[in-house]
Amino acid sequence: MTKWTPSSWRALPAKHIPEDYPDLDKLAEVETTLKGYPPLVFAGEARRLRDRLGDVAMGKAFLLQGGDCAESFKEFHPDNLRDMFRVMMQMAVVLTYGAGQPVVKVGRIAGQFGKPRSSPVEVRDGVTLPSYRGDNINAMAFDPKSRTPNPKRLLKAYGQSASTLNLLRAFSTGGYANLRNIHKWTLGFVDGSEQTKKYKELCEKIEDALDFMEACGVTPDSTPQMAATDYYTSHEGLLLGYEEAMTRIDSTTGRWYDTSAHMLWIGNRTRQLDHAHVEFMRGIENPIAMKIGEGLESDELLRLLDVLNPENIPGRMTLIARYGHDKVAKGLPSLARAVKAAGRHVVWSCDPMHGNTIKTDSGFKTRPFDYILTEVRQFMQVLHSENCWPGGVHFEMTGQNVTECLGGSAMAVREEDLSSRYHTHCDPRLNANQALELAFLISEELGSYRKEEAARLAG
Ligand code: PEP
Ligand code: CO
Repeated sequence: MTKWTPSSWRALPAKHIPEDYPDLDKLAEVETTLKGYPPLVFAGEARRLRDRLGDVAMGKAFLLQGGDCAESFKEFHPDNLRDMFRVMMQMAVVLTYGAGQPVVKVGRIAGQFGKPRSSPVEVRDGVTLPSYRGDNINAMAFDPKSRTPNPKRLLKAYGQSASTLNLLRAFSTGGYANLRNIHKWTLGFVDGSEQTKKYKELCEKIEDALDFMEACGVTPDSTPQMAATDYYTSHEGLLLGYEEAMTRIDSTTGRWYDTSAHMLWIGNRTRQLDHAHVEFMRGIENPIAMKIGEGLESDELLRLLDVLNPENIPGRMTLIARYGHDKVAKGLPSLARAVKAAGRHVVWSCDPMHGNTIKTDSGFKTRPFDYILTEVRQFMQVLHSENCWPGGVHFEMTGQNVTECLGGSAMAVREEDLSSRYHTHCDPRLNANQALELAFLISEELGSYRKEEAARLAG
């Protein structure tokens, strides 16, 4: 294998990186500017996440990864960030309780801007323009100027990521995430829903347990884990020029870390073995993930694992399966079997969003809640029967009351509702109520696996 450097990817073919910047010198100038900007995360934090994910790979913890399909400049607001944080905390409480295990929380946030698109162009009323590719590249409005890539957008995305991360750090360590606040994480618009009722009942049980523990001398003051939480960031490492600029040598270990996020993932469309994205990711020390889906054969997957995790470090590699509700039971078993037989340590996570997108007659891109739930259930069943730990989920979701995905049992979104609050900049997201409902359903499933496992161990 050739020598890796932060720029060795440049010699290889790359998919989904825009080349139509009108002034490539300007782009290079912006990348140089970014190289001088402070890191967004620290190497030590990325190492801690890798260790936590190592616990997930070993079946001792569960990964909850979620956030916007695409962050945007327009929806950037502290209330939106707070609501996303709250709903993830609620889901984590529900999952921790059901699985009886720690939940590793990772946002698709503070850097999730650039999007691979199924077509490089969009045609409207006979007019053809470049597709919208994310706010760090171009703008959504359908006119030639907005759709032309502008390198300055990278600087704005960096700035938004830095402020987002600053607020997330404050939420997670500044008192808001104290377990004594669990009842405050409920979002106003879901008050009264079935999910909120169930959540409140759970809060009461947890508060009773906290009262008991406090009486025994275990308090948030004496036990920092009760007063704060670890919240990590992630995004698709798509725009390698930006990722290269954020990649620095860690002074403690002398190794390269991409300081744009704790965890980066390779998209389903950019995971070719001999292409730029795999080349870049193999050289950074962060925990990385890779989306996998229909058409990937076991041999190729094992070769990718050899390149991306040659030392087989648990927690280095997360595989995010995104097949579709009607394909996962067919595609996943052979991969799970091959990875297990080869003794490779991976986190198995389920993205039930990207294989379940449909278009309604009225032209909305949406995802039926039933398909999403079916894919998660089948993913868990497949892994369980292959003796692998169904270690995590990856959702596109928001804390807002949007109407983007169809269904859900309480406050169900109907086809005629889609137009009322459809705000996403790319793919349809679960709203807070749908996300919490999924957390309850998954938590029940995990709880039953745990009981089965305990019965098995008891002989
Ligand atoms: C995404 O996660 O937004 C995405 C583009 O997914 P995939 O690479 O699985 O298509
Ligand atoms: Co998406």
